[in-house]
Amino acid sequence: MDTNGYSKEGLHRCILVTGGAGFIGSHTVLQLLNEGYVVHVIDNLNNASEESLRRVRRLASPQFQHNLIFSLGDLCRKEDVEKVFSLAKFDAVIHFAGFKAVGESVEKPLKYYNNNLIGTLNLFDVMTRHGCKKMVFSSSTTVYGQPKVIPCVEDFQLAPINPYGRTKFFIEEIARDLQKADPEWRIILLRYFNPIGAHPSGQIGEDPKGIPTCLMPFIQQVVVGRQPVLNVYGNDYPTKDGTAVRDYIHVVDLADGHISALQKLFTTEDIGCRAYNLGTGHGTSVLELVAAFEKVSEKKIPIKICSRRPGDATAVYANTEKAEHELGWKAKYGIEEMCRDQWNWARQNPWGYNSP
Ligand code: UD1
Repeated sequence: MDTNGYSKEGLHRCILVTGGAGFIGSHTVLQLLNEGYVVHVIDNLNNASEESLRRVRRLASPQFQHNLIFSLGDLCRKEDVEKVFSLAKFDAVIHFAGFKAVGESVEKPLKYYNNNLIGTLNLFDVMTRHGCKKMVFSSSTTVYGQPKVIPCVEDFQLAPINPYGRTKFFIEEIARDLQKADPEWRIILLRYFNPIGAHPSGQIGEDPKGIPTCLMPFIQQVVVGRQPVLNVYGNDYPTKDGTAVRDYIHVVDLADGHISALQKLFTTEDIGCRAYNLGTGHGTSVLELVAAFEKVSEKKIPIKICSRRPGDATAVYANTEKAEHELGWKAKYGIEEMCRDQWNWARQNPWGYNSP
């Protein structure tokens, strides 16, 4: 720690963050900066805004604000990746960039396979040629598909059930093959559960383009009046209140998990290619999340009970022991704090980064 209370862990290390302007990316970039890392972001701004990075810079400790560099670029254009690698020597890459809408991936599988796989292959290729062989990859609980038992443990057989999920699975497989072929690679696959919440400042948060498909951004839009009612997909599940159960995790905890993973990469020679769940280990139902948001916002959320959404699992939550033991990481925040910070972001930015 220095005299300002900041860890010097990252000093002089330079990290490339793909998709760093997005929801999870921007929160992670902020934490990286405050840990002393130099952070280079490449993002095509397809589903993100450069405004998030302007705010990240302002939120970062003044001594680190100049350590953030942004390049507009698309991983599918190899020349964009090459260009970024010609600007700096990276010690590691955190790879967030990718499309993530399940429904759209079912309708347009090629769009998903092209973007997510080609982009990642280009990145692996350029990294190899530049001798940068450390990666933290943004995987997802979606690789477990419909888990037969819960909580989900990392060594479950993987069985994604839609094209988006398969892109995450295929990238995991590619990473495992690559590391096996060249043991110099160190790769950590982080399987996120359901990230929600926002930075406590309310300055950065999730800002989906179009109508949100995920629960929390939809709740937020109902509360600020952008949507009239929340459709609750199914109240006949065999759960405590009949609605589906998920493992919601505060995005700040998730960002911390990336810092822990990065430190693990730098300190563990034989890490190989290893997967970790990032969740809280607790399940929350749709109605419980609605009630928690109503409590912190002091607003009534109108709901309409609908039939189940095809492909939805009954209950999914994480076993978090591996991340706790090996990464020394554990989620700190509960549902109330997630809702409080989401509401703080929502009321300051009802229209996301385009708010007046
Ligand atoms: C979502 C993502 C998935 C990602 C995972 C983990 C989608 C469609 N799915 O899945 O890609 O891997 O998080 O981050 O983007 N619900 C409602 N009403 C709504 C929206 C959702 O009742 O308007 C219910 C759903 O039926 C589900 C729960 O809320 O039971 C959570 O849904 P969602 O936020 O979409 O998360 P996942 O389905 O877990």
